[in-house]
Amino acid sequence: MEGRLIIPSSGLPDAKSSPIADSSVLQIWGGHRLQGHVKISGAKNSALVIMAGALLCSGECRIRNVPLLADVTRLGQILSALGVRLTQTGEILDIDAREIKTSKAPYELVTQLRASFFAIGPMLARLGVAQMPLPGGCAIGARPVDLHVRGLQAMGAEVQIEHGICNAYVPGNNRRLKGAKIYLDTPSVGATETLMMAATLADGETIIENAAREPEVVDLANFCIAMGAKIEGAGTSTITIVGVPQLHSTEYSIIPDRIEAGTFLIAAAITRSELTLSPVVPEHLTPIIAKLQEIGVDIIEEAPNCLRTLSAETLRAADIETLPHPGFPTDMQAPFMALLTLAEGDSLINESVFENRLRHASELNRLGADIRVKGNVAFIRGVPILSGAPVLGTDLRASAALVLAGLAADGTTIIQGLQHLDRGYDRLDSKLQQLGARIQRVSVAKTNTEVAPQNADSQASISM
Ligand code: UD1
Repeated sequence: MEGRLIIPSSGLPDAKSSPIADSSVLQIWGGHRLQGHVKISGAKNSALVIMAGALLCSGECRIRNVPLLADVTRLGQILSALGVRLTQTGEILDIDAREIKTSKAPYELVTQLRASFFAIGPMLARLGVAQMPLPGGCAIGARPVDLHVRGLQAMGAEVQIEHGICNAYVPGNNRRLKGAKIYLDTPSVGATETLMMAATLADGETIIENAAREPEVVDLANFCIAMGAKIEGAGTSTITIVGVPQLHSTEYSIIPDRIEAGTFLIAAAITRSELTLSPVVPEHLTPIIAKLQEIGVDIIEEAPNCLRTLSAETLRAADIETLPHPGFPTDMQAPFMALLTLAEGDSLINESVFENRLRHASELNRLGADIRVKGNVAFIRGVPILSGAPVLGTDLRASAALVLAGLAADGTTIIQGLQHLDRGYDRLDSKLQQLGARIQRVSVAKTNTEVAPQNADSQASISM
């Protein structure tokens, strides 16, 4: 059928169907204002965990508003390797997990995508056994999974970690996890999601205390409730789940991506432009909007689920500390740093969620920013202009920060490391192009910093 893609269990789809293009760079000719409207895609972090959550269902689920991302493709491949049937039609993803053929997740793919580890919860709940490779460290910190493991053990699972694999099983005849009272040392998003999913099919009641309150946790809870799960308190620090024997088919639409929306709000602010964005859930953006207003960017709710930014002529310095929701989100820290490089005065950013998430500072300095980093704190002295240069994106949000800085910088910025950007932004470059940005994906061989195009549309080497 036209437009339908069945996600294969091995190998990435070809370049036409995958947004991944490792050998390309982004070339940005900065200093141009943006204008128009941008459609915000479904939330990456909801999509990934809801795909994992579909393993709980003994029927078929239809997920709407799924963003087109490399991470979604990769998780699709992992689920497919477990025997799950997936069919994607644009932003609709059908997941048929009636039959799960193996409890052993593929090592190579899981180690590349941390969120796929979260599938250990639904797999244990459904099968009573799971062999899940450890996700390992990543560019932003060690990111352990001890809270996931300790919670599953509290629910009766036996867990052994050997040769990089987390082997878990539920002893006893019925192989069902048991409800438990679990306190999380830190309100981990992933651990809350893993344990909430596991508890939906457990015997009895589970209470998760000090749970994460992120909107994506609430989205997952709503998806599970739509499948028949009994969950109360999602969005608060205490989530109560009463296990049911099985979950049924459902259709569910993913919430808009608050981090993508925040990135476009900054794109408007950093280029002194006016943009409208929809759909958004303004309450999900409260800490982001509050900080932008403090910096001097006016944002109005033009219509339900639609925001308009007003052009800010002067940006003021501000201090930021990243915190679990409803505090300022760590995923917005790098994009805000890009904005603060051009604010008047001295700003300070304290990254308190991840231990190694300030690597973009040195790349922003390459563009003329004045940032000093000490431990987890960045001191930013605002400069009047940035100037384009070749830079390297070291992780997903760091790459977004460089795109934003490139939009404002004088001259040409070339960004390498697009595999990070493509993991988590749904066609960011083409969305920006539609708003008037001079941005192109160029194969490395054709990159030339000296030559700017007369007409962005006339370049032959764009890959979107
Ligand atoms: C999720 C998001 C990510 C976001 C992060 C924080 C997904 C797919 N990813 O990641 O975009 O940046 O939340 O909002 O949803 N920790 C432990 N032990 C654990 C688990 C976590 O010590 O078992 C620590 C982490 O190292 C980190 C902190 O808890 O310092 C928060 O991490 P967590 O909320 O778990 O992040 P993720 O769920 O991995």
